[in-house]
Amino acid sequence: QYKKQFQQALVQWFIREKRDLPWRHTHDPYKIWVSEVMLQQTRVDTVIPYYNRFIEEFPTPEDLAQAPEEKLLKQWEGLGYYSRARNLQAGVREVVEKYSSTVPDNRPEIIKLKGVGPYTAGAILSIAYNKAEHAVDGNVMRVLSRVLLIKEDIALPKTKKIFEQAVMELIDPAYPSEFNQGLMELGALICTPTSPKCLLCPVREFCTAFQEGRPEELPIKTKK
Ligand code: ADE
Repeated sequence: QYKKQFQQALVQWFIREKRDLPWRHTHDPYKIWVSEVMLQQTRVDTVIPYYNRFIEEFPTPEDLAQAPEEKLLKQWEGLGYYSRARNLQAGVREVVEKYSSTVPDNRPEIIKLKGVGPYTAGAILSIAYNKAEHAVDGNVMRVLSRVLLIKEDIALPKTKKIFEQAVMELIDPAYPSEFNQGLMELGALICTPTSPKCLLCPVREFCTAFQEGRPEELPIKTKK
């Protein structure tokens, strides 16, 4: 039926077409965490060298927990949003002290860590631990608004929950990591804000906005 076919089309496409990115060679939740924090306000091409240097300098949670702030900020220099780096270190210190350096594998615990919001929590849980958890950012909202014709205003904070519920309804329980990363990758490569490449899209036959002919009019966003 629809759901199973959508999952299969998305997951198979991701496995086939995914970009070779450094954080896609690991399941280490600490490294996934670092990558997701860097990717929050910075584009992939910029993040790659920073991620590689950062992991080389701080290969484990203990290494980052022990780092002096000047060394941390030096690694972060150029990425901006330096509170991200300080929050990451604070969260990692909590993991070292409270969880013997093992990143929690469940949402209630992981979300309490400094700097880990609902998106980062879901990204770590699904990508590192292969848990069926939502990881909804702007890209994912754009993709799903088009596929499912969701016309809620994504500038409203309460709208996020609608998309999180949609992901939980649709996620492939056998391949949560590939499913979530497939949504992210589709948003990055195919289902772009303007001129989406629908003719290359693996899920266009499941996409309501494509069938209605005006995918670029979604998502609806009032302000910002
Ligand atoms: N943007 C946010 N998370 C990402 C990831 N894991 N891979 C590529 N781009 C991303």
